[in-house]
Amino acid sequence: MEKHSIALIGFMGTGKTVVGKNLANQLDKDYKFIETDEIIEEMAGKSIPEIFKEDGEIRFRELEIAACKKVSQLKNVIVSCGGGVVLNKINIDYIKRDFHIVLLTATPEEILKRIMKEGEKKRPLLDKPDPMEEIKILLKFRSSFYGAHAVFTVDTTGKSIDEIVSEIIIKIGI
Ligand code: S3P
Repeated sequence: MEKHSIALIGFMGTGKTVVGKNLANQLDKDYKFIETDEIIEEMAGKSIPEIFKEDGEIRFRELEIAACKKVSQLKNVIVSCGGGVVLNKINIDYIKRDFHIVLLTATPEEILKRIMKEGEKKRPLLDKPDPMEEIKILLKFRSSFYGAHAVFTVDTTGKSIDEIVSEIIIKIGI
């Protein structure tokens, strides 16, 4: 069966949201852009930092699984997946049937720069005394998870949004 949607996976700060929005605009107007984090916030009735603080990461991951299930039932969507979706195989199992899975990457330095622009408070896992150290630890732990699920990988370091979007369109062939 032809896959009808695209899922962007990758570490925090690799550009999934901004690239996803631009991709949805460029492809055609029938593509809707969504984020798993947005669905989670709607389900919980609070922000991601609040969920982590009040309910803990385990609760967040449970909501993330529910969000991936929801997403898997949609058609013609571009979804930006939270950086940790790869940690639970069931998330990928939900998504991979109908979605092209594209991995975005960036260097730790570039990731830190982008995260700091938005403020580390938005990313509870990096809201630590040494965010660079956390980025390196998490990237090391997660690298095999990201690599295992991507069909295409696009390095975003030093590239414009337009360049990244074109690369994805060419690689997927849509
Ligand atoms: C997380 C990434 C975040 C968000 C949450 C946890 C992670 O999403 O889901 O803070 O574990 O990598 P983004 O990758 O969109 O920042």
